[in-house]
Amino acid sequence: MKQVVLVYSGGLDTSICIPLMREEYGYDKVVTVTVDVGQPAEDIQQAADKAKILGTEHHTVDAKDEFAREYCFAAIQANADYEGYPLSTSIARPLIAAKAVEVAKKLGATAFAHGCTGKGNDQFRIEYAIRALMPDAIIHAPVRERNMTRSWEIEYAKAKNVPIKQSLEKIWSIDENLWGRSIEGGRLEEPNYAPPEEIFQWTKSPMAAKDQVQELRIDFKNGVPVAIDGISAAPASLIVKMNEIAGNNGVGRIDIMEDRMLGLKVRENYECPAAVVLLAAHKAMEALVLTASEIRMKQRVDAEWASLAYQGLWFDPLKDDLEAFIQATQKRVSGTVTLRLYKGNLSIVGRESPWALYSEDLASYDTATFDQRESTGMVKNFGMQQRMFFALVEKHKQNQ
Ligand code: ARG
Repeated sequence: MKQVVLVYSGGLDTSICIPLMREEYGYDKVVTVTVDVGQPAEDIQQAADKAKILGTEHHTVDAKDEFAREYCFAAIQANADYEGYPLSTSIARPLIAAKAVEVAKKLGATAFAHGCTGKGNDQFRIEYAIRALMPDAIIHAPVRERNMTRSWEIEYAKAKNVPIKQSLEKIWSIDENLWGRSIEGGRLEEPNYAPPEEIFQWTKSPMAAKDQVQELRIDFKNGVPVAIDGISAAPASLIVKMNEIAGNNGVGRIDIMEDRMLGLKVRENYECPAAVVLLAAHKAMEALVLTASEIRMKQRVDAEWASLAYQGLWFDPLKDDLEAFIQATQKRVSGTVTLRLYKGNLSIVGRESPWALYSEDLASYDTATFDQRESTGMVKNFGMQQRMFFALVEKHKQNQ
């Protein structure tokens, strides 16, 4: 029996893959796998319902905790940022692929299918992860392979009795998980079109957000958040709670031009309330405890990490190497950050840590512990080469 594991979201692209796999690709059995990384419960249910109608063997895999712990928290430690985007969709793809591989291994399947188009980044992320974890896998990407258009897909779905009512109603292409919500498509593709209020679901408009400052304390341990306002929470619930708090204050909207892997520039809108707040707080913590040269080096390591994460090279050995450095630095990233949220704004107003490399005694203008006279020689010799250069310029002028 020929079986294929379809990475399934329940949307139009992946749903038409079901009849296609049977009728055009020659598979007897289609196994659909939907991975729960924190998308709305209705979406998970809808995928299961559609799979049932279309007669697949369906698996829903709850990976929320693993996603929060191993992916979102790794993103915090690496200050995840690609062109202003906290990598919310990107980091979920390797985990989704890994879960599909787990199901395939259990069933003894070696063929996969996904609904990615040939234009985006997800095809790279999903295929790279599947091949890393199962080097001989066969992977089908019908939407890409057949150069499909949306109208062809709709006609095909109608002909094959694939339910598409929800897909037809959708104006926007949305991808959602604990770490953020990506909104694309429709007029949003025009870089100069201001995003209408209706695209946002997790964040209040800053104008409609409450007229009161909300102050928060976030506790970090080894570079990851462990409590909000003194109340400890497990990774997934901490992120959910932070999405709610920050979203209510209108914090977390991102509107950028993004350079995709294929070189296409696209306009992207995101809502990432928890990510925006937790990343800002984490950076404030690092600024207090890491040395200046550690911070400089870490910015380079973080940028490399973000580029691997964007490309979906999650299982690349370089990522482990970078994370060895990141982990070493995070041992001291423990303490508390205080911040204020107000109508779309976020400001850090305090930080403390047992590892603070800060000494009030040394920095203050008011104490005598620092003998200022000791700076004299250092200041005099600072910029030695510039001084030598200008002296030479003078000398050569005189010789002319
Ligand atoms: N451009 C982002 C990325 O490649 C997000 C894509 C989200 N997809 C969507 N259908 N909204 O990571």
